[in-house]
Amino acid sequence: MSHTMNEGYHDEVLQARQPQHGVDPLFVNRWSTRAFQPYTISQQELYALLEAAQYAPSANNMQPWRFFVAATEQEKTLFQSFIMPRNLVWCKNASAYILLASDSLTPDGNENRMHAFDTGAAWQSIALQANMLGLSTRAMGGFEKAAAIEKLAIPSNLHPQIVIAVGKPGSLEQLDESFHPMNKPTPRKSLDELIVPYEVK
Ligand SMILES: Cc1cc2nc3c(=O)[nH]c(=O)nc-3n(C[C@H](O)[C@H](O)[C@H](O)COP(=O)(O)O)c2cc1C
Repeated sequence: MSHTMNEGYHDEVLQARQPQHGVDPLFVNRWSTRAFQPYTISQQELYALLEAAQYAPSANNMQPWRFFVAATEQEKTLFQSFIMPRNLVWCKNASAYILLASDSLTPDGNENRMHAFDTGAAWQSIALQANMLGLSTRAMGGFEKAAAIEKLAIPSNLHPQIVIAVGKPGSLEQLDESFHPMNKPTPRKSLDELIVPYEVK
């Protein structure tokens, strides 16, 4: 299926992004806001995000992604204790957090070399499913891993990768002023920069 010029792409993303080859708007319209409005996320919405991750592809179908979910005020407060201060400024307004960890062991106890790579696919699925539900996500590498491991009693085979802030996108009034200039869709490298030429010898 091909798209005519700009069909389905949100105006706000076209300021920064210029899709040229018919990529589905699903991919182009996703961007990671830091502005969230007050919103109580339902269990059904939250589970839909996790279910999207469930269907991500993985090496030998090992499905190494694991989720630690914070949706109640108490759970969110616990997570906030290991999220870095600069992220806390904005992510306090998110409705839920998902700590995405990856299991580095295969079922027979060997090393799964692809655990982190495959868990990245799960993150992308969560992000896209969120957008399809009118929600938004922002990944955070900015959290104290050792503290998260201790507070959540994470076993040594599970490696915390990111904490995902999930919520209903809001307006700039709901965001600390210091973030205003950067709260907009990000640009992308051109395909020319990404496709690496090589010689067939
Ligand atoms: C692994 C990972 C770690 C990130 N860590 C942070 C973070 O700690 N704080 C933050 O504000 N954004 C963080 N981000 C968001 C990125 O900066 C953002 O995804 C990127 O600039 C592209 O923008 P977009 O998601 O809006 O397309 C992270 C994203 C990823 C994928």
